[in-house]
Amino acid sequence: MRVFIVKDYEELSVQAAQIVAGQIYVKPNSVLGLATGSTPLFMYHHLIRIYKEYGLDFSEVTTFNLDEYVGLPEADKKSYHYYMYDNFFRHVNLDQKKIHLPDGMAASVDAECLAYEKAIQECGGIDLQVLGIGQNGHIGFNEPDEKFEAYTHEVKLKQDTIEANARFFADISEVPTRAISMGIKTIMQAKKVVLLANGSNKAEAVYRAVCEGITPEIPASILQLHQDVIVIIEEGAAQYLK
Ligand code: F6R
Repeated sequence: MRVFIVKDYEELSVQAAQIVAGQIYVKPNSVLGLATGSTPLFMYHHLIRIYKEYGLDFSEVTTFNLDEYVGLPEADKKSYHYYMYDNFFRHVNLDQKKIHLPDGMAASVDAECLAYEKAIQECGGIDLQVLGIGQNGHIGFNEPDEKFEAYTHEVKLKQDTIEANARFFADISEVPTRAISMGIKTIMQAKKVVLLANGSNKAEAVYRAVCEGITPEIPASILQLHQDVIVIIEEGAAQYLK
């Protein structure tokens, strides 16, 4: 793990965007694994800026998002489909056919998980995976558990995740309780990983993921075993590392 502590969210976002841009520059047909949520928002903002100012070409890039809620249609403003199109996809020259998110409305969630995992493998796996981290140490929607879930699977969200995500919904009762998420093995098979952590509410999860033992109770801790992980941590989230 290479850990970088940066002074604020802006610096975190610029550095993350530069890593993604560098990946695409070196390998224009890269397969990117992407995250949603608050943390990568400005990274997308800077990638759009780099696209507009420097002509970064996304036309050959393939994307796979980490996760999607079960039961939210793509057009729902709270869905991760909507988030990705609104904050990133529609602003750059990505090929629609190369964009992938799990289908939260699939008739069979199990079949959708299998198909999603197969699609990732058929593209040769993920070159660069961008991750945020939950306050409970989750990555994707791999929640604290007794074992690491391997591949793309259906998740029952933990109460603390539902509470953390309630800020995006009018009422906590509207937060879906299930999601489809890439598994830990899917994530660990990515050639490179960038983990982003912003805000003092992530400080404990970051400390446990980076400095303590590897345990499925802190899913992000498994990244200690990955050969090529960059962790970019804003000062507030890094407060226990100093
Ligand atoms: C989202 C995802 C989640 C988030 C995590 C942090 O696609 O996979 O693991 O990265 O919940 O969310 P924020 O950034 O909103 O604090």
